[in-house]
Amino acid sequence: MSVPTPKKLLNVLRGNREKVPPVWLMRQAGRYLPEYRALRAEKGGFLELAYDSDCAAEITIQPIRRFGFDGAILFSDILVIPHAMGQDLWFETGEGPRLAPPLVDHDFEKLVPAPERLNPVFETVRKVASALSPETTFLGFAGSPWTVATYMVAGQGSKDQAEARRMAYGQPERFSELIDRIIIATVDYLSGQIEAGVDAVQLFDSWSGSLSPAQFEQWVIAPNAKIVAGLKTRHPDTPIIGFPKGAGGKLPAYARETGVDAVGVDETVDPVWANEYLPAGMPVQGNLDPLALIAGGAALDSAVQRILGAFADRPHIFNLGHGILPDTPIEHVEKLLTLVRKG
Ligand code: CP3
Repeated sequence: MSVPTPKKLLNVLRGNREKVPPVWLMRQAGRYLPEYRALRAEKGGFLELAYDSDCAAEITIQPIRRFGFDGAILFSDILVIPHAMGQDLWFETGEGPRLAPPLVDHDFEKLVPAPERLNPVFETVRKVASALSPETTFLGFAGSPWTVATYMVAGQGSKDQAEARRMAYGQPERFSELIDRIIIATVDYLSGQIEAGVDAVQLFDSWSGSLSPAQFEQWVIAPNAKIVAGLKTRHPDTPIIGFPKGAGGKLPAYARETGVDAVGVDETVDPVWANEYLPAGMPVQGNLDPLALIAGGAALDSAVQRILGAFADRPHIFNLGHGILPDTPIEHVEKLLTLVRKG
């Protein structure tokens, strides 16, 4: 039996239903908030913020201060792992992340690991953990190996992850070795976050939707299962949320086979279907369309009611199906909280 907790979100992750579901939003710290934009303008860039533990701690707390979400998510990025594995990392304005050298034409054996690059992140965790109120659940996170590998191989984001899929088919042993290295780095990284003070962690597999069923088994389910097993050996009481975005019909297999404690569902999945096909009693997180939040009004109202209704009988954490978009009106976030919490 675990100790009772005032943290509602953590309680749900332990498999208990809360009458009013706890709420947080993926990417809740970010550009839709004027206080974030102000700090970013002052510091000059995203990575400058992420690696400055005072700034990153402040940004992690900004949405909690403004909205009173039930969960705070560490302000960092999934690409700090490739950075710590020895790739250079920067963000091209208006375009997105760049990693060099791209592994499509470079041996990862030649990268010089730089694990000390993660130290400011652990420092951020310690600062946030000591500042949050006892009711707020603190979430750490990492990217899942497949999603991280897609960026490491191509050196940037892409629409269809073709470079990584090509390598996975054409050089499966080499690709498997890369995935194994990411697994080891990720288990260490998430253990470090847990030891520094997060209550639970989320694995983001943003590009899991681009894989065929057999490849999904090999590059999504199997590596996530290894991370879960590694973390459970070291930290058996820390819940793990798995978020295989785009998994669709492969979601129930992911939920059963990876060992995650809770599963995140994106907005393309019908919540009634998810409730029926996901394992009974497993906590589910999701799944409002970020564009319904931008729209507001009746569209927001009905989407929220449908999700609340579908998950009424199981442990549920209210969230978006993917990250909040920069042009989301603040008042719509406030409205969402009222809708979810009116009970
Ligand atoms: O949820 C949170 O608030 C925590 C912080 C967080 C960020 N990135 C901050 C961020 C988390 C959990 C992530 C995850 C992440 N990062 C993913 C997986 C989830 C997803 O969104 O699919 C991926 C694929 C990345 C890689 C990444 N980081 C990209 C492709 C980009 C550029 C696109 C964009 O939105 O600008 C980033 C930058 C990034 N990471 C920003 C933030 C707040 C935007 C920074 C800015 O321009 O100020």
